[in-house]
Amino acid sequence: MILEVSPLHPLRGTVSLPGDKSISHRAALLAGMAAGESKIENFLDAGVTRVMLDGLQQLGVAYALEDNQLVVTSPGIMAWHTPEEALNCGNSGTTMRLLAGALAAANLDVVLDGSEGLRRRPMGRVTGPLQAMGVKITGSAANTAPLRIEKRDDGHYLKGIRHNLPVASAQVKSAILLAALAADSRTTIVEPGPSRDHTERMFSGLGWDVQREELPDGVRVSLTPPQNLRISPLQMTVPGDFSSAAFLIVAAAITPGSGIALQRVGLNPTRTGLLDVLQQMGAAIDIRERGLQGGEPVGDITVSYSPLHGIAVAGDVVVRMIDEFPVFAVAAAYAEGSTTVSGAEELRHKETDRIAVLAGELRKLGVAIEEKPDGFEIAGQGGLNGGEADACGDHRLGMSLAVAGLTTKNPVRVGGAEIISESFPEFVEKLSLLGGVMKQVPE
Ligand code: S3P
Repeated sequence: MILEVSPLHPLRGTVSLPGDKSISHRAALLAGMAAGESKIENFLDAGVTRVMLDGLQQLGVAYALEDNQLVVTSPGIMAWHTPEEALNCGNSGTTMRLLAGALAAANLDVVLDGSEGLRRRPMGRVTGPLQAMGVKITGSAANTAPLRIEKRDDGHYLKGIRHNLPVASAQVKSAILLAALAADSRTTIVEPGPSRDHTERMFSGLGWDVQREELPDGVRVSLTPPQNLRISPLQMTVPGDFSSAAFLIVAAAITPGSGIALQRVGLNPTRTGLLDVLQQMGAAIDIRERGLQGGEPVGDITVSYSPLHGIAVAGDVVVRMIDEFPVFAVAAAYAEGSTTVSGAEELRHKETDRIAVLAGELRKLGVAIEEKPDGFEIAGQGGLNGGEADACGDHRLGMSLAVAGLTTKNPVRVGGAEIISESFPEFVEKLSLLGGVMKQVPE
C-alpha cells in the first residue's frame, strides 16, 4: 500500500493515543503468567502485540481483545503447556526477548522464531546471560533466531547472576529479570544508560523486590526472586504511547499554523528524551502532568509550530529517545543549521539498520543527510522537495516519511506503508482527525 501525503495543511485539535507498545507487551505477558482472569484497558491492538498474545495462546493462555480491552485467562506460568509448534514472534524483538526470559522461568521445551527481519537481529545478548543463569538456550551459529530452549531436568531453580550489559537495552534487561524470577538468589544488572524501566515498575506493582539505582556512569537494577511464581491477575490501564505521540509532536512542530493537544500520554522519563531535545531546538511544547496510570506518569502535551534550529545529540538522551530517531531526523531536516547524532550505533540493530535506511530514504525526499557509523548528520535546509520513498519494512520509518510529507513542496508517496500497522494502526486516522490530508492507494 502507498500512503500519499499532501503538504501544507496545518494540524489543529486534540487527540488521545493508543496504548503504549512496551507496556502492552509487558501487561500481556504478565497477565499470561498470572493465574486467573486479568483485564487490561487501552491495550495496543497492533501487529507486534498480536504475536505476543498468539504466542501466549500456544502456551495455554486464552485471550479476548476487543475495542482495546484485553481479557486474559491463564492457568498461570507454572501450568503453561509445551507448545506443539515454534512460537512465531513475527517482526517483534520485544516479543522474542521477553518470551525467552519468561519461558526460561517456566522451564519448557520451546522454539522461538520470527520473520526474516527478526532472524537478522542479535540474540546473543539474551542467550549469553540466560545461559549463565543455567538456561539451556541456543540460537543459530550467528547467535540469531530461531532460539531453542530445552527443559532442564536437574531441578527447577536458575542461578542469580551479576551481568553488565554492554549496550543499554530494556528488552535484554527484561528478559534477564523475567528469568531471574525463577532464580535461587538475587540478580543484578548494570547498564551503561537508562533504558526504559516499565518492567521494573510493573514488578514493583506486583509486590516484587526490585531496586533501580542511578550510578554516575549507568543504572543498576537488582531483583530478589519472590518465594513462588503464583502471580495475581492484573487490572490496569495502559498509558498512551509516547513513541506514537512522537510522530504527531514532530508533525505539529514542523507544519506552519499547527497547534495540537495530545491527552494522557505516557511521560515516563526513560522515554521522553525527544521532548527535551525538541525544546532545546526551539519547539513550542507544553507538558501538563496528570499523575500516575498503571504505575506510570501520564500527562497532556501541547505542541505548536515554531522554527527549529540544529542541535548535537549524544550521551544518555540517546537511549531515552532510541525509537524516535527516524522522526527526529525529519525535525532536523526542517531545522536551521546542522544536527548531529552520535553514540547511537544501536540504531543499526532495530527493525532495520535504521541509520542506513533513514539516510537512504530521506535523501530521496531531498534531505542532506550523511551516515556515520554511530549516527548521522543533517544539514537542515527548510524546504524539502518531496517525492517517493519506501518504508523498507520498518513501521517507524514509514510514519516518519509520511510526517516529512506534511511540509514538502510536492506530495510524498510512501511505499510499503501497510507496515505502519505493526505499532500504530491508527496513525492515518489520528493525523487526519488533526487536519492532515493523506490517502492510501494500492501499490
Ligand atoms: C523496547 C525496548 C527498546 C525499543 C523497543 C521496545 C521494550 O529496545 O527500541 O521498541 O519494549 O523493551 P532496547 O531493548 O534497545 O531498549
